[in-house]
Amino acid sequence: MRILRRTRGSFCLVLAVGFLLSSFYILVVRNPRAGTDRKDDELDTNHIAGGMDQAVRMTVRKDTSPGPSKAPYLTTNEIGKASAGTEERAKENSLNVRLQNTVSTTSTEAIDRHTEVLKIEEIAMHTELEVIQEGKPVQTPTLISRNVNKDPLNEAATTEAQVSSKEFHEIPANNQKVFEVHSEVVNGRSLSSWSTAMRRNSSQKSGGHSDDVTQSYSREQPLCKYPDLQMESSEFNHLFETITNLNCGHASINYLTYLDGNSRTDIFPWDVVKLNSSAILPTQKLLNCTYSKITRFDDFHSLYTTLHTKVFVSNDETLQFPFKDEFSKVTCFLEEAVFNQTQQASSKVIREHNNMFVQVVRNESLVKDKKAEIEKEGRMKTALGHGMNVLMVGVDSTSRMNFMRKLPKTFKYFTETLEGHVLKGYHVIGDGTTAQFIGMLSGFHEEELPNAKRGMENSTTCDAFPLVWNKFRTMGYTTMNAEDEAGTGTFQFRLQGFENRPTDYYMRPFWVAQEGLPEFEEWFCFGATPKHHYTLKYARDFVEAYHDVPKFAIAFHTELSHDSINMVQVADEDILTLIKSWKDKGYLNNTIFILFADHGARYGGLRKLLQGRLEERLPFFGIAVPPWMKKSHPEIVRNLKKNEERLTTAFDFHKTLQHVLDYPGDPSGFQGHGLSLFQEIPLNRTCEDASIADHWCTCLQSVTVNIQNVLVQEAAGFAVSHMNRLTAMHRSLCAELFLKNITHAELIKPNSKLLQFGGSDPRSRNALFDNGRNLDVPFLDFRITLETGPNGGAYEVSVRKWLSSEKTEITADISRINVYGNHPSCIQDKFPRLRKYCFCREFMNPVSP
Ligand SMILES: *[C@@H]1O[C@H](CO)[C@@H](O)[C@H](O)[C@H]1NC(C)=O
Ligand SMILES: *[C@@H]1O[C@H](CO)[C@@H](O)[C@H](O)[C@H]1NC(C)=O
Ligand SMILES: *[C@@H]1O[C@H](CO)[C@@H](O)[C@H](O)[C@H]1NC(C)=O
Ligand SMILES: *[C@@H]1O[C@H](CO)[C@@H](O)[C@H](O)[C@H]1NC(C)=O
Ligand SMILES: *[C@@H]1O[C@H](CO)[C@@H](O)[C@H](O)[C@H]1NC(C)=O
Ligand SMILES: *[C@@H]1O[C@H](CO)[C@@H](O)[C@H](O)[C@H]1NC(C)=O
Ligand SMILES: *[C@@H]1O[C@H](CO)[C@@H](O)[C@H](O)[C@H]1NC(C)=O
Ligand SMILES: *[C@@H]1O[C@H](CO)[C@@H](O)[C@H](O)[C@H]1NC(C)=O
Ligand SMILES: *[C@@H]1O[C@H](CO)[C@@H](O)[C@H](O)[C@H]1NC(C)=O
Repeated sequence: MRILRRTRGSFCLVLAVGFLLSSFYILVVRNPRAGTDRKDDELDTNHIAGGMDQAVRMTVRKDTSPGPSKAPYLTTNEIGKASAGTEERAKENSLNVRLQNTVSTTSTEAIDRHTEVLKIEEIAMHTELEVIQEGKPVQTPTLISRNVNKDPLNEAATTEAQVSSKEFHEIPANNQKVFEVHSEVVNGRSLSSWSTAMRRNSSQKSGGHSDDVTQSYSREQPLCKYPDLQMESSEFNHLFETITNLNCGHASINYLTYLDGNSRTDIFPWDVVKLNSSAILPTQKLLNCTYSKITRFDDFHSLYTTLHTKVFVSNDETLQFPFKDEFSKVTCFLEEAVFNQTQQASSKVIREHNNMFVQVVRNESLVKDKKAEIEKEGRMKTALGHGMNVLMVGVDSTSRMNFMRKLPKTFKYFTETLEGHVLKGYHVIGDGTTAQFIGMLSGFHEEELPNAKRGMENSTTCDAFPLVWNKFRTMGYTTMNAEDEAGTGTFQFRLQGFENRPTDYYMRPFWVAQEGLPEFEEWFCFGATPKHHYTLKYARDFVEAYHDVPKFAIAFHTELSHDSINMVQVADEDILTLIKSWKDKGYLNNTIFILFADHGARYGGLRKLLQGRLEERLPFFGIAVPPWMKKSHPEIVRNLKKNEERLTTAFDFHKTLQHVLDYPGDPSGFQGHGLSLFQEIPLNRTCEDASIADHWCTCLQSVTVNIQNVLVQEAAGFAVSHMNRLTAMHRSLCAELFLKNITHAELIKPNSKLLQFGGSDPRSRNALFDNGRNLDVPFLDFRITLETGPNGGAYEVSVRKWLSSEKTEITADISRINVYGNHPSCIQDKFPRLRKYCFCREFMNPVSP
């Protein structure tokens, strides 16, 4: 089906600029303000702004008598209850806080069991973490342990927290101090640290074969627990369709001109524009063709300079325009006879056909200047690998999950052949593309930089931003930036764009010119050419033309994936081909290669679901370093590997970019937020530490639930039968397992700010929340640790119970958290995957009489 681009209200202004000396100029103007539905703004006017901190006042009294807390304190709204710990605990410099949630409001008339669990969970989750003393936060209040030790289904949930507090000693004996406690658990900092410690210690206690330990124990658990996102689910499978073929060039006129050449060297494979006479229909008469080069006027205007013209007398004539410019356009006019019903030519129409071409032309004098720059003061001497290239290839609006769904060939090549590291905890730092690029290139949030917003008094252009490509440029790198969709450009849609060309090679003038032509109105194709081919060719040419000098390049393609979770699939093979050719030609041997997206999909059906909301926040981000770095800098490869599972952001990537220029310098002194990915990101990092606002934070919060709870029992039973299903084929060898005990159960869900986020204010960019309309969480996610017989196995399982149906599923790898030794010996060579679950029958004790 032919999809027509929606009208964008753009206008073209044609001006003859007489005072410019060359032959003939046309100024193409695009109105960048058109199309306000794009890229930045998704705003539901029903959403209301508002904070949601429910501060509770809580009195803590130092209690010198030993034993459990006796003297409770009270607050006006009676949510919290606290008492100090014993004198011994005080000596340990910790303050024991006991909070009791009165949940009478929800325990009365629950509509059904499921909703009640959620409501109570909600309340338990809102138990405070931040402790404020007399208006000021208590220094680094760290919740060490926390446990809801009453069944939330039956009684008031009690939360115990141990808050380290220097202030504790300042509380006189039997005296009271008033603390204010805030009702949001910040980024789930609380519970996971506790469970992490427990888990590790239980594994240490068990001892056992060291090989088994890595095989069988629960993976290292970061403090931030990420949601278990699914590739497929009956909830959203219907939103996906397979589109592998982009059908461009429906009419033969789209093939009228093409690039060809005799001097096909690697660097300049094409050097002439030719005419394809077979594309001319018998009813058409060719009139004339002109060749114009395109150059930048400013970020919103491009210039056409007509260099060659040919007027045709007959259709048999050939055409050869030299192709030497970076960006060019060839326009041909044809006269076409229009036939009426009696098959007689009744009238003639003039048809215009435009084709556009890109290439990167190496500028020897630029290379000379760059080399001189590098020589100067031996600039590259400290750089990692002596002038390590940075190449970035990105697509818009693609979550990590969707990248794997829709770009599987590229993903496989990146992770397997290039051994790239895909960061699973890579979070967005703000709304839309601009926030991510500014973070990546400067290390700051937009609000921290000079105001460059359009239509605001005293705002400046983006030249004032401290962008990292400037740093690369002054270090002797040749720089490139390519981004399509000029009308909604990252730095030009909401911001003022650049006064001066920001990088040595800059593709924007091409896209500005293209958007003024009628052929552009079709989605994804410009005539016979898929639009993303222009981006990829420009990137390919740049790397080839500058293969021998240090370079920094970003190629980012928006159109395919911006409004569709499916279309980007048509680029899979093309992106793969590009990366593969770079690898095969050795261009990646001295390159930090980045494959990335800015954020996940921000529109469409998936985005309305919790899955989509989480995916939006977890874009694809992959980083690959050359293989020889394993030997020369094993620490970098080791840290990148670790950081795959850590909480990371564009700010960290920005620090990494600076680190490339200064390795092994200390990145803490570098500009901007974040930590270098070449170093280990702390396991206990929280969204707060990483400068991620709560509503962008996907770290899950959890609340302990009673193991007697029927739903927990059902979920645990489901997990054991799931394990049995896995070994069912080998029942003659592996004994059937049974549920022996549930040792711990938690309910997990995203923080409430994320669920209440209703978009950003288009002007202020402030987050808008809707307290009344939480996004529905259509399931209960349990994390359960359980024990099985007869193998004495201990497991951690993630079980999702859907509320709308009877469906239950396992949502993450099941972790075996104790040693299994040689229990699976009967199948382990043939079915290593099943080792965790198989208890070979030979180990079963004969029943004693
Ligand atoms: C866990 O083990 C570590 C190291 O053996 C120890 O320092 C820590 O106190 C233990 N934590 C708990 C909760 O037992
Ligand atoms: C010439 O035009 C025909 C369509 O009429 C097309 O199929 C063919 O691919 C074109 N050749 C080139 C080199 O573009
Ligand atoms: C090419 O033909 C078109 C249509 O007839 C005409 O408007 C235009 O002026 C011609 N251009 C040249 C350079 O002859
Ligand atoms: C078709 O075009 C011819 C030539 O212009 C004209 O004489 C004839 O009347 C037209 N027929 C119809 C049905 O319009
Ligand atoms: C080539 O580079 C030089 C020096 O950097 C610059 O002055 C010149 O304008 C460049 N030429 C082109 C065609 O871009
Ligand atoms: C803009 O700059 C002028 C001159 O510096 C100053 O007087 C004015 O207050 C500024 N306006 C705003 C909104 O900052
Ligand atoms: C890659 O680079 C390393 C280190 O600079 C060098 O030793 C090796 O020969 C290069 N390999 C290729 C295929 O160019
Ligand atoms: C994380 O661990 C480091 C030391 O390993 C500690 O200094 C820091 O306070 C911890 N942060 C949190 C949030 O627990
Ligand atoms: C079940 O697990 C709980 C919690 O760890 C423990 O207290 C209890 O003794 C266990 N029961 C059995 C039968 O193992």
